[in-house]
Amino acid sequence: MSIELSKCRICESSNITDLFDLGEQPLANALVYPVLPGQLNVSEPKYPLVLVQCEDCKHIQLKHTVTPEEMFVDYHFHTASSPRMVRHFASIINKFLPKDGLVVEIGSNDGSVLEEVTNNVGTSDVRLLGIDPSRNLCDEAFTRKVATHCAFFSKETAQGVVGLYGKAKLVLCANVLGHVPDLNDFVAGLKLLLADDGLLIIEVPHVLELYDRLAFDTIYHEHVSYFSIKCLTELMNKHGLYVTCVEKQEVHGGTIRCHIRSHGGNGWSVIPDILREDIVNLDWHYFEVQVGLLKYKLRSALANMMLEGKQVVGYGAAAKAAVLLNYCNITTDLLQYVVDCTWDKQGKLMPGTHQKVIAPEKLWDILQQQAGPEVMLILAWNHAEEIVRKEQNKYPNTTFITPDLITVQARAQKD
Ligand code: TYD
Repeated sequence: MSIELSKCRICESSNITDLFDLGEQPLANALVYPVLPGQLNVSEPKYPLVLVQCEDCKHIQLKHTVTPEEMFVDYHFHTASSPRMVRHFASIINKFLPKDGLVVEIGSNDGSVLEEVTNNVGTSDVRLLGIDPSRNLCDEAFTRKVATHCAFFSKETAQGVVGLYGKAKLVLCANVLGHVPDLNDFVAGLKLLLADDGLLIIEVPHVLELYDRLAFDTIYHEHVSYFSIKCLTELMNKHGLYVTCVEKQEVHGGTIRCHIRSHGGNGWSVIPDILREDIVNLDWHYFEVQVGLLKYKLRSALANMMLEGKQVVGYGAAAKAAVLLNYCNITTDLLQYVVDCTWDKQGKLMPGTHQKVIAPEKLWDILQQQAGPEVMLILAWNHAEEIVRKEQNKYPNTTFITPDLITVQARAQKD
């Protein structure tokens, strides 16, 4: 079910304008089971996907909300599939680890980040707790021996957690806030959870990066908000939280990391960043034209490669892959397979466009050729270097490209 927005998710104004319409799209993480011949094909629900902006506070968000239970209760992204991500998020917690007290990761996924942190905690009095709504991921976290509270984070969840474990000295909330339909309730929960002298670290994709990189494939139903520093700061301030520092990060295609505290006002370093931001004057018509051009070039390139008899496979059955394939109408006539290392995606089909998802080690059998595919189209482009570094030894003759048709060469050094 999807519900059309009647007021802005931050300031509650009803003064909202359309920016970019991606049409009716399936849920980007809803991979489908292949049907046997003779069985009826199950119809996949599709929902409108429209980016809008609040004319008052300027927050950029989706026009429709799909019920979170439909998207997150059974979730197929496992942080463990990207050791680089695990190291990245564990290093944030390790850097600010208090001497004692509660450390919470909201959106703790399969527990792999907190598992990595455990090694650093040793015998100190620090207690680690994950919070995540997905049952399948919480089960995985338990097998990693990571204490996890299985729930959507909200003011009510925060009250329960504080009652059981006390307030938190450090809270990490990375790549979560963009998924939250009721922002004001969620942030009220953060305020409640954070100890008076506690540090809250929020990492979110930066909307300017989405615009500059033409990352239209990061727009999907799960991501209801696309943050600027200005809007994030105003949201925090509304709930008595203050942004003391903003850092830009390269990870996940360009994110902002904010340090947030319960008092003291916004830090000076935040102000110049907000002043440099220009979310008011972004030309979304230009964006739409450029996306149309990317679609045309990518489709033409795939069609030409097919005519030349080249074998092309997609890499990364990410949500952004589903958006790209559906928006560009790349069905199995142009691309047959998508490789992904996540075991519970393998054997299923991409939502809407139905490419079969296969394990990296199965590729040899399927292609039945020694040289491997001529081209790998890296759909999970935020992991491009990590993927190329991993695969180029196996496939030395393969060209790795991203959807904008840029060839990726992995740098030799590790991050
Ligand atoms: P993700 O980064 O979560 O993108 P999105 O938010 O758009 O879903 O997903 C990356 C996908 O790529 C995930 O399914 C795992 C896969 N992957 C591999 O198959 N091999 C790899 O080496 C890496 C890094 C990721």
